[in-house]
Amino acid sequence: MLKLILLFIFINGLYAVICPIGYQTLNNKCIKYFSTPLKYWDAYNICKQNKGNLLTISNSIDNSAIAASFKNRTDTLWLGLQCESDRNPSSCHWNDKYNTSAANYNNFKNGYPLIGVGKCVNMFTSGSFAGKWLSEDCNSTSLNFICESNIKDIDCQFVMGGDCYIPSINPMNQNDAQKACQELDANLVSIHSPQENYFITSMIYNISIDYIRIGAVMNDNSKISWLDNTTFDYNNVGYQNLDYGKSFCLSLRRQTVESGEWISCYENSAFPFVCKRPLNNQTIVIDDCTLPHFYNGTGGFVSPNYPHSYVGTPKQQCQYFIHSGHIFSKAAIRFPIITLDDKASISLFNNFNDQVPFQVLTSTNSSNSWFKSATNSMKVIFNPCLENCDTVYSHLFIASFGYF
Ligand SMILES: *[C@@H]1O[C@H](CO)[C@@H](O)[C@H](O)[C@H]1NC(C)=O
Ligand SMILES: *[C@@H]1O[C@H](CO)[C@@H](O)[C@H](O)[C@H]1NC(C)=O
Ligand SMILES: *[C@@H]1O[C@H](CO)[C@@H](O)[C@H](O)[C@H]1NC(C)=O
Ligand SMILES: *[C@@H]1O[C@H](CO)[C@@H](O)[C@H](O)[C@H]1NC(C)=O
Ligand SMILES: *[C@@H]1O[C@H](CO)[C@@H](O)[C@H](O)[C@H]1NC(C)=O
Ligand SMILES: *[C@@H]1O[C@H](CO)[C@@H](O)[C@H](O)[C@H]1NC(C)=O
Ligand SMILES: *[C@@H]1O[C@H](CO)[C@@H](O)[C@H](O)[C@H]1NC(C)=O
Ligand SMILES: *[C@@H]1O[C@H](CO)[C@@H](O)[C@H](O)[C@H]1NC(C)=O
Repeated sequence: MLKLILLFIFINGLYAVICPIGYQTLNNKCIKYFSTPLKYWDAYNICKQNKGNLLTISNSIDNSAIAASFKNRTDTLWLGLQCESDRNPSSCHWNDKYNTSAANYNNFKNGYPLIGVGKCVNMFTSGSFAGKWLSEDCNSTSLNFICESNIKDIDCQFVMGGDCYIPSINPMNQNDAQKACQELDANLVSIHSPQENYFITSMIYNISIDYIRIGAVMNDNSKISWLDNTTFDYNNVGYQNLDYGKSFCLSLRRQTVESGEWISCYENSAFPFVCKRPLNNQTIVIDDCTLPHFYNGTGGFVSPNYPHSYVGTPKQQCQYFIHSGHIFSKAAIRFPIITLDDKASISLFNNFNDQVPFQVLTSTNSSNSWFKSATNSMKVIFNPCLENCDTVYSHLFIASFGYF
């Protein structure tokens, strides 16, 4: 019975990546191949127009993967790399927004780069030089190329109220945690309601974590504000004392303060943390399931009466319809948190009209895997227990949907 009271939360690293339509994923990158050969700066401009840059490579795994997956399509490719001096890879800089040097990783053929040949760099995908980088003239040679997109959306597992929450169990001080969040276009989390506070409390399930860092900070007059500059309109501070630091942590355990309450903590101490960023195109409704719900884009929804048990709230099955305007994509759903009662099921259908589900999830076999529809739509029917239900345990779920 223990399984019923545990929340099954799966945190697979900090985040994964969803690519824009037309791009394929390559490890953590979103890439798109262009088979029309162009001169370096023309290719560079095409990638710029597509809100990205020419291919960059920062490790041997990506290098081998690119060479292997493109060897049948082209012999050479532009890399977004330019060099300044002979046989000196650290004089080469990637033409991306960070302008990083190739000193840390490069795979030049012995004796390269050679500026006399050209300042630009190509990569061989086939033959005996496969995977090797050689110098090439930027202006006289036209080559096929790969653009890398800068608009990767984070594959958001935890969605509520139009925001995406990204937990990290990797402990950091306030500055580093805020920087790590900013890398994801997010900020350390701000909290505006008891529901949101509960949601964040339930996000990290790890018995060895007592406190998580949140985005509240105190000034010298003990006035509290949020790092994302949202209004401080909800206060759940259990203990506040400038002597214990100017930042705040949320307690996951009842000890100095109650579980869920906030307590002063040092800016320089390392704690796990949660980031939050707005999702533009998504809404979430905590509904009583009397009406079907339609969702476009990416987002999430939660079980009726969330964060409390749904048992007793719905008087009928709940229907959710998710849809992407991109007809070539596949609608997908997963459940980062799901504890169904023994009589409940969630059925997934390839189409709004389908009567036969392609997948049925129950209390025994639900999981956080992606379930993909055969089409760009999916019907989701939640059949909760309606009679003689288990009211001892808390049953709930968080659904997160997107497109592949
Ligand atoms: C490349 O072509 C060969 C021979 O046609 C084939 O066996 C191989 O699977 C192809 N590789 C890729 C990555 O498409
Ligand atoms: C990139 O960095 C190098 C070395 O610091 C510099 O010479 C070059 O001008 C920079 N390029 C851009 C586009 O900032
Ligand atoms: C190559 O082309 C770029 C952009 O068109 C130009 O700025 C640069 O001067 C050219 N270089 C040479 C060596 O012709
Ligand atoms: C729990 O947190 C600790 C400390 O941050 C970490 O080392 C450990 O891997 C975590 N365990 C799980 C299952 O995530
Ligand atoms: C919040 O406001 C401060 C002061 O105006 C500013 O420095 C900071 O960048 C703002 N933060 C965000 C996330 O907008
Ligand atoms: C969000 O919605 C707007 C308007 O509906 C659309 O133009 C934009 O492409 C959408 N963005 C994403 C990431 O889906
Ligand atoms: C959702 O997408 C469908 C099909 O593209 C469209 O008819 C409908 O108006 C959209 N709904 C909203 C709320 O944007
Ligand atoms: C879960 O169990 C149900 C009922 O036994 C079965 O129909 C369904 O295929 C299973 N789903 C998964 C994902 O294993």
